[in-house]
Amino acid sequence: MKSFSEIIQQTEFSPEDLVRMLEADGDDRTLLFVQAEKVKKQTIGNKVYFRGLIEFSNICAKDCLYCGIRRSNEKVVRYEATDAEILDACRFAWQNRFGSVVLQSGELSSPTFVRRVDSLLKQIKELSNGELGVTLSCGEQSIETYRQWRESGAHRYLLRIESSNPELYQKIHPENDLHRFDRRLQALRDLKASDYQVGTGVMIGMPFQTIEDLANDLLFFKQLDVDMVGMGPYIEHEETPLYVYRHLLKSKQERFDLALKMVASLRLLMPDINIAAATALQAIDPAGREKALKIGANVIMPNLTPCDYRKEYQLYEDKPCLDEDAELCRNCLEARIGLAGCEIGYNEWGDSKHYEHRKRAEDPGRGFQSQPQSK
Ligand code: 5AD
Ligand code: FES
Repeated sequence: MKSFSEIIQQTEFSPEDLVRMLEADGDDRTLLFVQAEKVKKQTIGNKVYFRGLIEFSNICAKDCLYCGIRRSNEKVVRYEATDAEILDACRFAWQNRFGSVVLQSGELSSPTFVRRVDSLLKQIKELSNGELGVTLSCGEQSIETYRQWRESGAHRYLLRIESSNPELYQKIHPENDLHRFDRRLQALRDLKASDYQVGTGVMIGMPFQTIEDLANDLLFFKQLDVDMVGMGPYIEHEETPLYVYRHLLKSKQERFDLALKMVASLRLLMPDINIAAATALQAIDPAGREKALKIGANVIMPNLTPCDYRKEYQLYEDKPCLDEDAELCRNCLEARIGLAGCEIGYNEWGDSKHYEHRKRAEDPGRGFQSQPQSK
């Protein structure tokens, strides 16, 4: 049998190897983290990129069984930020040299919604002279919509698969056509075909989820050849159907630790992708995101959602930074990130190196769309 240190030196991993990595404790766990930190520094360096997160609307057509803003949760006050509020947050990001923003919302696909996002994209490009990068996270849409938004200026898209095991996916979603695994997979393929840098991810430590499921999730990311991954611990929410299964859950600390091992293992499996330090880590441990940055992640998403709306965007319990200035205090962020041995890539889009490598391999003559020269 391979020793643990032999396993983590590899560049290809079997499901069994990954299970051993996810179950590592004691010295093995330390070895895994040290190796992931080393591979990250060698491959992509120690820079961390900021994405200002703007949760611009919590109106959602979906009813995912784990999510606090699901359509059936009538306790949530639904909101839609105004264009002026959204553009102010973008201006803040640009002026503070964040490089890019993420526009995230509940999932709607009405023509009005599609047009609104389109118009916002154009306005954001205009206000920042094309300098601010824009990632969208607005759920499953038609390929035509994805193409339209891509043309209007979005260049990255986040759509988590939530679980790559179709049976588990079905268990955590209602049984209807709005929540089909195959549809979600097709949306990810459409995003790739529409020339986005594509990000996906899963929740870690859900009821009914096994370690083998998580190992297969990592291999799924590799097989889909994604450019970015964001994954964090599952955190139960009282106003959701999955809450009744809370007795099946590992402790929050165990879910947190498993999430760190997922990040470190993924860094070894896909050394050149962008990996986000998920906000849900911070809901369990105040220094959670920085811990993830140290052992493999390279993206952080400070919340720029206008404060009044934040309490209505509670996907899970104990979501941090409901009224937040410390989060955005530049000195604090710099100090925390410095402690993790990383430095901030101000004013940089921080594109996934993987996307660049992928595009060059597909078409060696093609120019890679890069960030315009900034101020
Ligand atoms: N715990 C952790 N993450 C959650 N999300 C939704 N609900 C929860 C929860 N209870 C995540 C999903 C979704 C992202 C926007 O938030 O993975 O894709
Ligand atoms: Fe699907 Fe919120 S309703 S993630």
